[in-house]
Amino acid sequence: MQRITILGATGSVGVSTLDVVSRHLKKYEVFALTGKSKLETLAAQCQKFQPKYAVVMDASSAEILKGMLAATRTATRVIFGMDALCAVSEDSDVDIVMAAIVGAAGLLPTLSAVKADKKVLLANKESLVMAGQVFNQALRSSSATLLPIDSEHNAIFQCLPINKSLSVAGVDKILLSASGGPFKGLTLADMKKVTPEQACAHPNWSMGNKISVDSASMMNKGLELIEACWLFDVNPVQIDIVIHPQSVVHSLVQYVDGSVLAQMGHPDMRTPIAHALAWPERIASGVENLNLIDVARLDFEAPDLVNFPCLVLALEAARVGQNAPAVLNAANEVAVEAFLQRRIEFTQIAEVVKESMFNFNFTEPDSLELVQETDIEARRASATYISRIER
Ligand SMILES: NC(=O)c1ccc[n+]([C@@H]2O[C@H](COP(=O)([O-])OP(=O)(O)OC[C@H]3O[C@@H](n4cnc5c(N)ncnc54)[C@H](OP(=O)(O)O)[C@@H]3O)[C@@H](O)[C@H]2O)c1
Repeated sequence: MQRITILGATGSVGVSTLDVVSRHLKKYEVFALTGKSKLETLAAQCQKFQPKYAVVMDASSAEILKGMLAATRTATRVIFGMDALCAVSEDSDVDIVMAAIVGAAGLLPTLSAVKADKKVLLANKESLVMAGQVFNQALRSSSATLLPIDSEHNAIFQCLPINKSLSVAGVDKILLSASGGPFKGLTLADMKKVTPEQACAHPNWSMGNKISVDSASMMNKGLELIEACWLFDVNPVQIDIVIHPQSVVHSLVQYVDGSVLAQMGHPDMRTPIAHALAWPERIASGVENLNLIDVARLDFEAPDLVNFPCLVLALEAARVGQNAPAVLNAANEVAVEAFLQRRIEFTQIAEVVKESMFNFNFTEPDSLELVQETDIEARRASATYISRIER
């Protein structure tokens, strides 16, 4: 029996993780579940999975959740705050931590899980984007196992040999696939007046609001490219982005002999979650088999670098390195939030990120403190810029 903490249990990845866990209750026991605003969802999850702990972010949410759990006689202990998130990630009773909090808020508890030698299932790409160097240092000095949950990175992981450097294994390139999002084929002028509802309506994937907007702006693919560089120890030039609108081929690896290995499946996060949960074994995920006759055709095309400036900015941050990705990430989080609140237009997300990046003196972010300082400073600069341009 393996005990699991799910950080961000009330979100899209968290709910999919519990779906997979619920199919294997003889293998996995839920130790802790965490959430922020969806207290009813968290209460229902606690009632069903009876974790030892539920974690929320503040005292008033904790009181409300305690009341809900008392009403259903659920014995789960409610704790709150960042220290509590870190505590349930590093507890000695925990074997596996699913890192599925969205954004920079996921960094500290994910790092705690790594430092405590857990099997860490990484959905929270932002923590690796903003703190890749610090994260990898912690990984090297621990015996933690890091497994990628992002469908693309999980696919790449499945197509790579285990325990061999990429050059020894004869890897030539990583081909990172992207659906193109809901605005594929539109021009910047077309995208000026799009609404948060349109941006969040992804054609293939059902996801949280922040990653949905990132997918619409293609920032998500840029963040994923940076994530892949840290995960697989490659340079940005070793990764090509390929637009694949059907989202059936989740990514590919090209070898020097001309072979290209791909991982395919329905666009359903339960597949990479089940793969990482059970790795190196396999378990059922609840996802139906892929019928290639039904899929019928697979299209591939080059990314549109003219109408998706967020992708260009992310590629630039990847090329520059240092703390440029942390600035990009912080500015993007602030801008996406402002767009979701209808304070700025969709096309102004790139403007905010560009303004923040080009006014920043980049340095080497080789400590957690420097990463956090960068994050705070970039958020402040982005918020100031937004207050100047908002409607
Ligand atoms: N969804 C996908 O298919 C997918 C695929 C690949 C990678 N990812 C990555 O996985 C992560 C989660 O994505 P998602 O789509 O599941 O997001 P989501 O649906 O928005 O869920 C986010 C989770 O984080 C919690 N949360 C939000 N802000 C928090 C804060 N400041 N402190 C603590 N907890 C906080 C939320 O709690 P409440 O909901 O209770 O407020 C929720 O449990 C992201 O990094 C995303 O890029 C997602």
